[in-house]
Amino acid sequence: MNRKNIRQFAAEELGLKTGPYEFVKTKEEMGAAAGRMGFPCVIKPVMSSSGHGQSVMKSAADLDQSWELAKEARGDASELIVEAFVDFDYEITMLTVRNGKETAFCEPIGHQQKDGDYIYSWQPAQMTALAKERSQAMAKTITDGLGGRGLFGVELFIKGDEVYFSEVSPRPHDTGMVTLITQSQSEFALHLRAVLGLPLGFTFYGDGASAAFKSQKDSYAPSVDVDDSVFTENSFVRVFGKPESHVGRRMAVALVFDEVEKALEKAKTLITKIKDA
Ligand SMILES: Nc1ncnc2c1ncn2[C@@H]1O[C@H](COP(=O)(O)OP(=O)(O)OP(=O)(O)O)[C@@H](O)[C@H]1O
Ligand SMILES: [Mg+2]
Repeated sequence: MNRKNIRQFAAEELGLKTGPYEFVKTKEEMGAAAGRMGFPCVIKPVMSSSGHGQSVMKSAADLDQSWELAKEARGDASELIVEAFVDFDYEITMLTVRNGKETAFCEPIGHQQKDGDYIYSWQPAQMTALAKERSQAMAKTITDGLGGRGLFGVELFIKGDEVYFSEVSPRPHDTGMVTLITQSQSEFALHLRAVLGLPLGFTFYGDGASAAFKSQKDSYAPSVDVDDSVFTENSFVRVFGKPESHVGRRMAVALVFDEVEKALEKAKTLITKIKDA
């Protein structure tokens, strides 16, 4: 979860391409860094995830607001990263698996983010051959650099054929839940196989999409009502069984196996048939 260690390792030790960034500790330093970076720029606590404490500064006038938001966020908000806004065409997750003997890649996953969390993901993301090749090369470099066994979620921004490293998680990735329906071995199965040193072969069955269901209430021991129509021959729902729900917290995911555009449209419809009970 430490953005500073990840970013410095990726950009400064491994030489991976990223947007410009600076680390700051005070509001004055933040303002100065934002000024150098230009607007818009993105402010994030060094220790945080799921968009907590994150904001986009559109101008110097946003300084106080962005500073307060970042300081209130959970985690160690004593240090912040100021990132230039990368004007990417689209973003992907490159799921990359290491078992100590070989490295395997899943088909690239496209996704859409809202309020700090992914809401839709699809696989495969449409990419040029060059952008895909560069994405795999970058994912290999960062995961070899980190070492160890398991599945990693390598988050990349793509502009044309240019690939920018964003961040990496050393575990299955939320956007990768789509693999529950698109692959013979899901990201979870691959993670386990990699940790156990087992072979990483799997079959990509074909296109699919996922859509996250977000709760609209705060509750203990929450449950959800899932309409029967959600269970078609090529779709299903996974309910996470979280012990508490909060407004905006993701509680379940709808999964659809179909051509990407159709799958995405269906997945978006299916989550409207899931309700807080
Ligand atoms: N420098 C940037 N330029 C443009 N967009 C950005 C930038 N940094 C973050 N974003 C957008 O915000 C999203 C979340 O950023 P990031 O992955 O760094 O945060 P996070 O808190 O780790 O989120 P998560 O835990 O969901 O991965 C990115 O997927 C991207 O859509
Ligand atoms: Mg992220």
